[in-house]
Amino acid sequence: MESARQCGCDCILAIGGGSALDVGKTAALAPLNRSVRDFLSGAVRATDPRVLPILAVPTTAGTGSEATVSVVFTDPEALKKASFRGDSLLPKTVILDRELLKTCPTSVLAHSGLDALVQSIESYVSRGANRLTDALALEAAILIGQSLPAALRDPDDSRVGEALLLGSYLAGVALNTSRLGLVHGLAHPLGARTGAAHGLLCGLLMPHVLRFNRGYDLEKSHDLAVALCAPGEDLAGFLADLLERCECPTRLSSLGVSESDLPIVAAEALPSGSTQANPRPVSEEDALRVLRAAF
Ligand SMILES: [Fe+2]
Repeated sequence: MESARQCGCDCILAIGGGSALDVGKTAALAPLNRSVRDFLSGAVRATDPRVLPILAVPTTAGTGSEATVSVVFTDPEALKKASFRGDSLLPKTVILDRELLKTCPTSVLAHSGLDALVQSIESYVSRGANRLTDALALEAAILIGQSLPAALRDPDDSRVGEALLLGSYLAGVALNTSRLGLVHGLAHPLGARTGAAHGLLCGLLMPHVLRFNRGYDLEKSHDLAVALCAPGEDLAGFLADLLERCECPTRLSSLGVSESDLPIVAAEALPSGSTQANPRPVSEEDALRVLRAAF
C-alpha cells in the first residue's frame, strides 16, 4: 500500500497466484491511508469508492481470488491466518489466459487445482448456497474434476488449462455468496502453523470432511458423485484417490503437523465463517475427530 501511495498509482494490475493477487488487491486500498491491520481488525471496511480499480491475471488455477471480494493474510508471529472482505476488493477486470498455466510447476498445479476443486464442492454443499451459487459451483466442480488429472499428465494441453482457469473463477464467484465449509475452517489454522500449501491441506482434508458430512445433503452428494465420478460411487474415496494420483501426501503427520497441534487447530477452526457454513453443525470435538482421522 505504501508503494502504491508513493508512486501515485491510479489502478492496480495484480498478476500471479492467490497470494500475489491478494497483495495486489490490498495495495488498491492505498488511497484510504490505513494499515492492513486496520482492515483485518474490522476497524475499517474495504468498501469505498476511493479504492483503486483492480485488474487481475491469475497464473494458477486455484484460489479464485480474481473473482472474490476477500483477501487472506498470515501473521507469522501469531501463527494465524486472517481475512477481510469488501466489495471494493472485487477486480474490475479479469484476464484468464490459459497460456500462463503452462509454466506452472506440476506440484503448484496440483495443489492449486485441489483448492479450486474443494472450493467448488464446499460452495455447493454450504449452508449459504442458493440456486445461483449451486449452478456456478457444480459447473466449477465438473470443469476442475474432469481437467485436473489431464492437466497433470499434460500441462501443455490448452483445453484443460482453460477449463481449470474457468472452473476456479466460477468457484470464486460462488464462494463470495455461499461461503465454504469445515475444510477451509481447518486448513487456515493448519496452514498458519505449518506453512504447508493451502491447496494440499484442503485436498487432504476433503475426504475426511465429506465422511463427517455424510447424510446431511443426500441430493447434493448425489449431484457431486454424478459430476465427478459415478452415481452412487463414494465421493470421499474418489477424492482420496485423486489426492494420491496428484502424488500428494495423504496424512497431516507428514506435513509437519504434530499431535499436540490438533486441539489448538480444532479450537481455532470453530469461530471461522467457513466452519459455520459447513452443512453439518461442527463442535470442537467433531473438528478434533476429523483432524485425528486425517492425522
Ligand atoms: Fe481455498
